[in-house]
Amino acid sequence: MQKIENDLIVDIKDLAFQWKAKSTFTLSVPSFEVKNGKTIFLYGASGSGKSTLLSLITGMNSPQAGNIWIDNQNITQLTSRAKDRFRANKLGIIFQQLNLIPFTTPYSNIELALAFADHNQCPKAEWKNHILEITDNLDLEPSLVLKARASELSIGQQQRVAVARALINKPKLIIADEPTSALDENSQSLFLDLLFSQVNKIKASLIMVSHDKRLSSKFDESIDLHDICQTVRQAS
Ligand SMILES: Nc1ncnc2c1ncn2[C@@H]1O[C@H](COP(=O)(O)OP(=O)(O)O)[C@@H](O)[C@H]1O
Ligand SMILES: [Mg+2]
Repeated sequence: MQKIENDLIVDIKDLAFQWKAKSTFTLSVPSFEVKNGKTIFLYGASGSGKSTLLSLITGMNSPQAGNIWIDNQNITQLTSRAKDRFRANKLGIIFQQLNLIPFTTPYSNIELALAFADHNQCPKAEWKNHILEITDNLDLEPSLVLKARASELSIGQQQRVAVARALINKPKLIIADEPTSALDENSQSLFLDLLFSQVNKIKASLIMVSHDKRLSSKFDESIDLHDICQTVRQAS
């Protein structure tokens, strides 16, 4: 489906998705638009389909119907290889389970994201400075970044490494799936402040999902998942 370029970082139309294996959960999104540079908080109860929706926006799953444009690229038309490249270059993803490689250093975890992207903007000779700058901004000590194993870090430190890894390629869109669920209230607020300062620095857009509505105040817009999605869960 062709369309005229616009100022939307996310543009979803007539989306329908159903998990293949066994599940009877279906999700449909008639229309969802996010403007460039906006920070969006999407809330919904556990099991309401937040991670499913993010898996479609990031191209990890493909819808049965409809179109998803990310930065004016219709990702539903890309091959899986092209989607991998697109994800590496344009998206920064912070997963709920963080997905750090536990037995290597924070440095290597972040470097891997640089290696996967077409890093024209950051020549290899500058990688080290670039990584140490972003980790410093996120209050991570250089000795920890260079020498510790990721598994030795506290959850709070691991979360900040996951942010550094997601932002190192200056993606246009950051996707965060309940990144604060393992933190207490005070640490959640500090984490969000650090995340927002980095997101603002690179002028990225941010979509964060959570079941915890209290986090919404820092975002430009806060949306109830039910207002954009219809979900059906049939008895199996
Ligand atoms: N990998 C999967 N395979 C099949 N069904 C799934 C899978 N992941 C989630 N689901 C189904 O999708 C529904 C929504 O789950 P999810 O998107 O993870 O919700 P949330 O992130 O809001 O907690 C679940 O009830 C489950 O039935
Ligand atoms: Mg989830």
